[in-house]
Amino acid sequence: MGQSDFLIEVEDLKKWFYPKQSLIGRRKAPLRAVDGISFSIKKGTSIGIAGESGCGKTTTGKLLLKLYDATEGSFKFDGVEMNSGMTKQELKDFRRKAQLMFQNPYEALNPRYTIYQSLQEPLIIHKYGTKEVRRKKIINMLEKVRLTPVESYLHKFPHQLSGGQLQRVVLARSLVVDPLFLVADEPVSMLDVSVRAGVLNLMREVTSTMGLTTVYISHDLSLIKYLCEETVIMYLGSIVEKGPTDKILFSPMHPYTMALISAVPSSDPDVELKELNINNSITSADNIPDGCKFQDRCPYAQEICFKQEPLLQKTKNDHFVACHFSEEIGGKQYENRLCSTRSYG
Ligand SMILES: Nc1ncnc2c1ncn2[C@@H]1O[C@H](COP(=O)(O)OP(=O)(O)O)[C@@H](O)[C@H]1O
Ligand SMILES: [Mg+2]
Repeated sequence: MGQSDFLIEVEDLKKWFYPKQSLIGRRKAPLRAVDGISFSIKKGTSIGIAGESGCGKTTTGKLLLKLYDATEGSFKFDGVEMNSGMTKQELKDFRRKAQLMFQNPYEALNPRYTIYQSLQEPLIIHKYGTKEVRRKKIINMLEKVRLTPVESYLHKFPHQLSGGQLQRVVLARSLVVDPLFLVADEPVSMLDVSVRAGVLNLMREVTSTMGLTTVYISHDLSLIKYLCEETVIMYLGSIVEKGPTDKILFSPMHPYTMALISAVPSSDPDVELKELNINNSITSADNIPDGCKFQDRCPYAQEICFKQEPLLQKTKNDHFVACHFSEEIGGKQYENRLCSTRSYG
């Protein structure tokens, strides 16, 4: 391991998609999916990335796994710059250390492979031990994700398992090669509500015993509250707020974060939600206005918001926010449903 306290250090990372040009007509503007983001993740901790659909969460995850090359900027992994000049061997080594957990278990697993074959494949790719060593490793991993007795699962096919069991297999497959880093993109959104908590509990336990550094991508703030020390809120490819999860969820300083929190449905009819109405028409990432990206939906927008883009600035306790008026509108203890729930759900 490197010397740095951080496993991931992201510096002004961008991913722009360039649409195909039509033969006639104007050049189309690039789609700024990730538009200059910076954050770091301490070793052994988890960070949540939240925001509405299309704000750039998945693209960020793919950049961190080098499934995409950045348009601009770069990041460091364990102190080492992950640039386009990596050798094939360096990239292969990185591919073992940094794993993705898929959202959809039916896409992640080959339907013709038994569970044993599915877990063996990444071990063979990374030339892990002898056949006997691999078998022990697979059995140990299935025990860790509590698919026991292991013998009764080894030779089953995906269609013979439930959604929750399959997602445990997907987790085991990501972790069987002993990675340092895991990106879980909406890890339980395809699962029945009744089995989500079980899978999340397991993820929390297994990632912590293995000492993993984890990114959870989710639009579900209660999941992030349950699993993540730090939270990043994204809006149209930019970070609008980041910091310790408690600070973000209980005393948010950006109006967009407040709106996301007030949209969390309440299970308790006595809890009165302070609804914050934002205009629902979301600007698209290929037509971003000057000034603050949130201007057209923000109930507090004033003249400066239409002219000057607010920078992400530190307030206190490592709490960062990008809003010209955050001091006036944010930072108060914010009564919301997330305050009253301790567990996931
Ligand atoms: N491969 C791609 N080509 C072109 N545009 C893309 C591609 N992937 C994502 N986008 C666009 O980038 C933006 C961010 O997408 P994404 O990262 O998937 O958002 P999220 O995961 O937050 O829903 C969206 O506007 C999406 O349409
Ligand atoms: Mg996504």
